[in-house]
Amino acid sequence: MGVKAMRIYRVKDYEQLSKVAANRIAAQVTLKPDSVLGVATGSTPVGMYENLVKMYEGGDLDFSQVTTINLDEYKGLGKESSQSYAYYMEEKLFSKVNLNRKRTFVPDGTEPDSEKACQAYNEVLHRVGPADIQVLGIGHDGHIGFNEPADYFPDETHCVALDEMTIQANKRFFESEAEVPGESYTMGIGTIMRAKSILLLVSGAEKAGILKKALYGPVTPGVPASILQFHPDVTVIADEEALKEIE
Ligand code: PGA
Repeated sequence: MGVKAMRIYRVKDYEQLSKVAANRIAAQVTLKPDSVLGVATGSTPVGMYENLVKMYEGGDLDFSQVTTINLDEYKGLGKESSQSYAYYMEEKLFSKVNLNRKRTFVPDGTEPDSEKACQAYNEVLHRVGPADIQVLGIGHDGHIGFNEPADYFPDETHCVALDEMTIQANKRFFESEAEVPGESYTMGIGTIMRAKSILLLVSGAEKAGILKKALYGPVTPGVPASILQFHPDVTVIADEEALKEIE
């Protein structure tokens, strides 16, 4: 266990990261057409989705039997809101490839009752999961999904209050900081760890410190991504900037 089960691909830059990540997902879908893809939002996977769309448009990829499960969604935002993750997925992937919408799942941010929303999403995950591959980014505070630093590792879908650091990082997508929702629904760490494989994408110097902590620091819920050291099949694709603190 531990970092022995982790492969780190060092790529030159974001463009290369996006290509290598798309190739990994394409290989998954080609070898297992009914794969369950755990998908992520944020700026890091944008280039990966662009490459996947290109492969689909070129006739090299068929999503017709694929299921997708998203990591998280802002509480209070639905797919009509351009900052929601449902909207992001629609824009970046769902509307551009031949995915069957009945097999794409995102937590329902419009459900105001947190318990109901999380339970409904857990039922989906129990039915269609585990993911064959779970794509992850990493937050500046070490979060995966919206699992913020805590004193335990949450198992299943839950409602979280976003950290100040996350609100600061994500306000760029909103008109103002005040518009960033304070809470989100996120897949739990247990569910993420039950994915058969993990693809962690990390780009840029500003992630170098947290990436080193996550991969080589102590495994602690204070750095949620550190638990990935215990996953048996993790691939990290990171660019030179993100790896600059790691030999
Ligand atoms: P980013 O977000 O890709 O926009 O940096 C990563 C994350 O918060 O998980």
